[in-house]
Amino acid sequence: MTEQDFILKSYNSNVKSGSVKWSAPSNIALVKYWGKKENQIPENPSISFTLSNCKTITEVTYTKKEDNSLSFDVFFEDKLNEAFKPKIQTFFERIETYMPFLRDYHFKIETSNTFPHSSGIASSASGMSALALCLLSIEENLGVDYADDYFNKKASFLARLGSGSACRSIEGELVVWGQNKSTQSSDLFGIKYDGEVHSNFKNYQDTILLVDKGEKQVSSTVGHKLMFGHPFAKERFAQAHDNIAALKAILASGDFKAFIKIVESEALTLHAMMMTSMPYFILMKPNTLEIINKIWKFREDTNSNICFTLDAGANVHVLYPEIEKDIVLQFIKNDLVSHCQNDQFISDSIGKGAQLIKH
Ligand code: PMV
Repeated sequence: MTEQDFILKSYNSNVKSGSVKWSAPSNIALVKYWGKKENQIPENPSISFTLSNCKTITEVTYTKKEDNSLSFDVFFEDKLNEAFKPKIQTFFERIETYMPFLRDYHFKIETSNTFPHSSGIASSASGMSALALCLLSIEENLGVDYADDYFNKKASFLARLGSGSACRSIEGELVVWGQNKSTQSSDLFGIKYDGEVHSNFKNYQDTILLVDKGEKQVSSTVGHKLMFGHPFAKERFAQAHDNIAALKAILASGDFKAFIKIVESEALTLHAMMMTSMPYFILMKPNTLEIINKIWKFREDTNSNICFTLDAGANVHVLYPEIEKDIVLQFIKNDLVSHCQNDQFISDSIGKGAQLIKH
């Protein structure tokens, strides 16, 4: 498919108003996307677990207007929010070619997250996918009827233009984004991973340890740019392709130890890229390292299949099979929670993707 396939050709312009509502989850990458070309095209393929509890819930009310402007208001947790507007304005400008009705309506966007505000968890993936889904449901309300497969692809395509990793938040349970030889995916949108998945990886758990709840030190826009001219960029992009291929075999065989190696190496590589760019950044905090060392010791002592991954910040995602839930949660409460800000953590697990609430 190409970009052209996502342009809405005709619609019923007599629709006066309506509202739609979606919830969309966050996701955590196993093989990381870091580095992009123009138009949010990734430099390398990535694959993620879709989460279940960490979600954004968004309602969009649309009202026909006369002028030709892009017009919207954003309410976050019931309060008018000006801070979100520039990102949404850019998003609207990027997607209007594909959704020509955007200038026909005023949009009231009401959004909230299930995870605590300023938890250091990026809400851009769940937020942009929820908004993309709402806009696509409005498109359907204007008289088009899409098959599920096309709907999901266009939703992911649009979400990608809001925030790259958001394109992996439409479906579950594993989503691949970025052209590669090992899976079916595309650079334009994420697709549900269609390879074999061993029961070991079903309902995998993710406990998110909130080490640093502050604003991100480096925005992902700045972060991705650091890969331009990065001395190790070429090798890194090639490694991501190799890791996707390796992970495909691991997901099928159920090999926990091999899974752990890829996932932890990917997390540390992401951070190593930021430490070796110019300018350079250290996004881990002392508590991030304390937690990693304790996870490694616990794994050695108990032969658990616990492992960690990181996004572009100090928080730690602790990943483990469902069968180990009781012992790992006990370990987290006894030994890791003291390294979190205000002892805060979020228990999550793999989810099935976004849900329509109102159409
Ligand atoms: O979607 P963005 O542009 O915020 O990039 C997110 C990149 C990482 O979270 C660090 C990795 C990933 O693949 O999700």
